[in-house]
Formats: sequence, C-alpha cells, structure tokens
Amino acid sequence: MSDFYLQNGVLHAESLPLPELAEQFGTPCFVYSRAVIERNWRAFTALLPEPHRVCFAVKANSNLAVLQILARLGAGFDVVSGGEIARVLKAGGKADRIVFSGVAKSDAEIREGLQLGIGQFNVESIAELEQISRIAEALDKTARISLRVNPDVDAKTHPYIATGLEQNKFGIPMVDALPAYQLAARLPGLDIVGVDCHIGSQLTELQPFMDATDRMLALVDTLAEHGIEIRHLDMGGGLGVRYGDETPPPVGDYIQALLKKLESRPELALYLEPGRAIVANAGILLTRVQSLKSNGRKTFVMVDAGMNDLIRPSLYQAWHDIVNVTPSPQAPFDCDVVGPVCETGDFLGQNRQIAASAGDLLAVKSAGAYGFVMSSNYNSRPRPPEVLVDGDQAWLVRARETRDDLWRSESLIP
Ligand code: LLP
Repeated sequence: MSDFYLQNGVLHAESLPLPELAEQFGTPCFVYSRAVIERNWRAFTALLPEPHRVCFAVKANSNLAVLQILARLGAGFDVVSGGEIARVLKAGGKADRIVFSGVAKSDAEIREGLQLGIGQFNVESIAELEQISRIAEALDKTARISLRVNPDVDAKTHPYIATGLEQNKFGIPMVDALPAYQLAARLPGLDIVGVDCHIGSQLTELQPFMDATDRMLALVDTLAEHGIEIRHLDMGGGLGVRYGDETPPPVGDYIQALLKKLESRPELALYLEPGRAIVANAGILLTRVQSLKSNGRKTFVMVDAGMNDLIRPSLYQAWHDIVNVTPSPQAPFDCDVVGPVCETGDFLGQNRQIAASAGDLLAVKSAGAYGFVMSSNYNSRPRPPEVLVDGDQAWLVRARETRDDLWRSESLIP
C-alpha cells in the first residue's frame, strides 16, 4: 500500500507535494513515507504477537531514522554484518532482538555479537558452528544459535535473489542438517534455539514458502526424535511486493498460511525477516529530466539519477514504475529513462510510455528497499539525500554527499 498519491494531478508523499521536496532537497533524492513503513510493519506484527517475532531485514534499508521508527515499534532486526548491528543499536534497537544472519561472519563480528548479547546467530556452515563455539567458549559466553538450512525449494524468482536452491552458497544442505545439529549439541558454548531458512526474495507465490515450511517442520520433528528441542522456526524474508503487474499474496494470507502449518505446535514460535515488504513501497527516487534525445529509433529521457543511485534495474532487470510527478501537456511517448553514468546498462526503465520534457520531475516508484543501501559513488557521483516524510513534515535523514565526502578517506602522496 502506498501513500504516494495524486492530489490535483501532482504526486504527493503523504501531505507534501513532491515538487516542493525537490525544491527543498534537490534531485536526485530518496523520499520515504513514515506512514507506509508503519502500516506495512503493523500488517506483520498484528498477526504475529509474541512469542512470534518479526525481524526487519536491515539490508533492505538501513537508514538510522527508518530503523528508529521500527525500533520504537519494538521491532526485531535481521542483520548481516557488524556494521548493521551498530546501526540497529545507534537507532535504539535492542541487542537481544537481533538475529545475525549471513555467510562468512568474521571472528570480530561474532565476538561483538556475543559481547552485546544479541538474540541469536543464524549459522550458515559447520565451520561457522565451530568458529562461534570457539569464540563463545573463550569469552565464557553462550551463543544462541539456529542453523540455516537449505530446503532446496525453487523460489521462482530472479536467479540473483534465489537463495534456497542446492546450487546457492547459503545455508547447509537438508541432508547434512541432523549431523550438524548433533555436532552443535556437542560443541561447548552453544545453545540451540531454532531452525532457520530463507529461500529467496521477491517471491510472488505462496507455494514455495509452504513447501519450505513443510520441509523445515519435518526437520524439527527429526531433531525432536533425536532429543534436540527446537523453540522457533525462522522462515526468513522474501515476500514480494508489487513493482508493476506482480500480484504477490497479501501479508495476511502469507502469515495465516504459515501459522496454519504451525497450528498443532504451540511450543514453536514463528520468526520472519521481511525487508522489502516493509519498505519497498514506502519509498520513491525523485529525479529531474535533464534533456531528451532521439536517435531516430529510440527516444531517451535523460535524468539526473543513475545506476549508482538505484542499481536494481541494471543488476536484476528489475521493473520500477516511473511516473511524471506533475501533469504533462504532452501525450506519453515510447522512451528509455537513462542516467548520466557511462555504462550502457545505466537505465532506470526501458520501453516506457511517459510524457516528459526537460525540467520535469519523475518519480521512480517502490525504491524504498535495496535502493539507497545499494548505491555507490561510481563516476564520482555524490550519493543522494534521504528524506523522511511524516504527515506534513519532511526530515532530512541523510544529507546529500558533498565533493569532500567523495575523497574523505583518500590521500595524495608526497
Ligand atoms: N533474511 C535473509 C537471510 C536474507 O538473505 C534476506 C534478503 C532477507 C531476510 C530479506 O528478504 P526480503 O524480505 O527483503 O525479500 N538486492 C536484492 C535483494 C537481495 C535480498 C537478499 N537477502 C534486490 O534488490 O532485489
């Protein structure tokens, strides 16, 4: 659901017209709606009271203000690095509500997590089990752990964001799960609390989630037969959103279907790690048309945002709706919306129907997830600001980078 809507033909973020925000903060610029973030969050938590838990996947949008909004709502957080742990704490999140996922955790990150008393480690390999055990023992701490198991389910999503297949680097294979848990039970410094999986991102069907849940529950039963009691089932993130013509299942259907599978298991709490479903549709990328050009076959609408600001179209052939923020007197025409970066792959949208002239503002929609967080300084482009709208107020929650920021940590040689 979005709070970016037309009022007298002008696109607004909550009560604020986007042209005003462009005037105030410049372009390109990410704009987020607090109302949408909170509404999306509550859609999850309303159906998952404690002891169930919803852990926001910080990688989707790690702006401190966004994390703060969620922390104030009592969120849990799914992190994949020491940097993300630090952000969560800085934003007011609680260490014991952090789930630490991700392959190749460093000794330093594990030590930090243990010292801070994070909620649990989602462990990706046997080697990591041994690594965590060794560090926990040395610190005289106990690490709560779940093993991330690969249920080998086809998430039917873009190959770069499918994670639950045999050929993916994530998790341990289902066939190895029992011996891995038995090893975990023997190793010192570990407290087995759950089982975990994440099969992919931007899933638009329920079935892969259901198949994965069945396999994970079968594992829970096998573990119980071997005397290993599991307290929670973490089904990861992955629920898709509507970027264009997708029809992902509503959050309520998704959660109810999962809970139904857990009906006869009151002892088992459900953990989810949604990222995209919370923030994607809560954000847009605001960009200004610099000029138009036509080569006889194609018309290019050249804008001031590029693949360094929003890489999803270039990297995953992802579709983001692109609309003119104000009514245009022209008729829509076929065009590619392209950025200033020196790469053929630098486009925000191809083969679109848009009416736009130089100077117009365009909104690239659903850019709240995996937008700013994946941005870079490629071509020495300062990264754009992030603005959070709350009713009729706009907060600059990250300033536009300056030239100095570009070379802040570089130095000339004598
Ligand atoms: N939990 C784990 C262990 C994950 O690896 C991910 C995402 C999530 C949760 C959150 O998934 P979500 O609910 O957002 O689908 N950059 C890509 C998406 C990469 C997702 C990686 N893992 C994109 O722009 O589509």
